[in-house]
Amino acid sequence: MLLPIILSGGAGTRLWPVSREAHPKPFMRIGGGKSLFAQTYERAMAIADQCAPLIVTNREYYFRSRDELAAQAVKPHYLLEPTGRNTAPAITVAALWAARQDDDACLLAMPADHLITDTEAFLKAAQHAELLARDGFIGLFGIRPTTPETGFGYIEMGDNVSQQAHAVRRFVEKPDAATAAAYLAQGNYVWNSGIFCFKASVIVAALAACNPALLEAARAVLDATRAEGDKTELGAAFSQLESISIDYAVMEKAQNIAVVPAEFGWSDMGAWDAVSDMIPADDHGNTSNTSSNGQPIFIDSRNTYVDSRDRLVAAIGLDNLLVIDTPDALLVADKSRSQEVRQVVSQLKASG
Ligand code: GDD
Ligand code: MG
Repeated sequence: MLLPIILSGGAGTRLWPVSREAHPKPFMRIGGGKSLFAQTYERAMAIADQCAPLIVTNREYYFRSRDELAAQAVKPHYLLEPTGRNTAPAITVAALWAARQDDDACLLAMPADHLITDTEAFLKAAQHAELLARDGFIGLFGIRPTTPETGFGYIEMGDNVSQQAHAVRRFVEKPDAATAAAYLAQGNYVWNSGIFCFKASVIVAALAACNPALLEAARAVLDATRAEGDKTELGAAFSQLESISIDYAVMEKAQNIAVVPAEFGWSDMGAWDAVSDMIPADDHGNTSNTSSNGQPIFIDSRNTYVDSRDRLVAAIGLDNLLVIDTPDALLVADKSRSQEVRQVVSQLKASG
């Protein structure tokens, strides 16, 4: 049995102006009526077999998360962070929390900001990863790259450790475009999906070896808290934990990592061009995500993506553009420069 840990505390700054701190990416509705978070929860329930998943998120998102899951029969337990400290502290407290009940528990870390279109294939891959985890590996899903994407981490695969899994030669987090193109051509690299499976005791041991300071500080935070109903509010000391991703804190250093190349219609949709790629295009390559106002009007336009909830958008003579309309902010950008949206967010933050 797998205990899912859903990570949903990140803001997803490259999808501004739709994704913001007050409305982060996991709550976006892409690829169906449900939010990415609700879709992740449904996948979690399919593998959890009635055990309550653990959700690690910011305390600001607690009520929102509960509303999203109102219709679910099995409710999760929430570990609530006072501030986001990236994925390593979140996974560390979740692993310690699970280890308290069962050191041998097998956990599946699931980011809540992905789209997965082939649930059956995902469940199969999860079963395989669980076998690896039971053997003491940290089993990580790798996705075969199709484009020289610079928004993902890349994993260089080594020898086989089982029929379907490989040892990891190295991780490279978000390489530049030329490096990503070289990896794509080389063929033995996969994208890091950020979804991985491990025994609670194994990740705790890996943290003890790779980042003991974080482990001990996280343990102290957890020891100072108590569950109240469906939530555990992590204290202010959580905000003092090192802000670091699990990739840097553990994956790049641990020896017992195995990567399982998998295909289950995965997209991180980290930026608007990737969102556009997930939506069926018209004959001219135009895509859209709109609500009640219906389809945008495209005249003599190509490869353009329009996202609008409130207004009808008409486009004339546009080529390879992104048009993202919200009530108080409008983004118009070249599609090939969608990664730079995070610079807009940085500037907005800097100007208060
Ligand atoms: N609870 C909590 N707290 N969750 C967080 C926090 C935090 O402080 N920060 C991020 N998360 C959640 C996000 O909501 C998301 O679901 C997941 O953790 C991953 O974080 P991202 O910030 O979206 O990471 P990324 O997409 O830039 O990069 C990671 O994922 C890629 C694949 O999606 C890396 O692991 C890359 O190597 C990988 O390719
Ligand atoms: Mg992400």
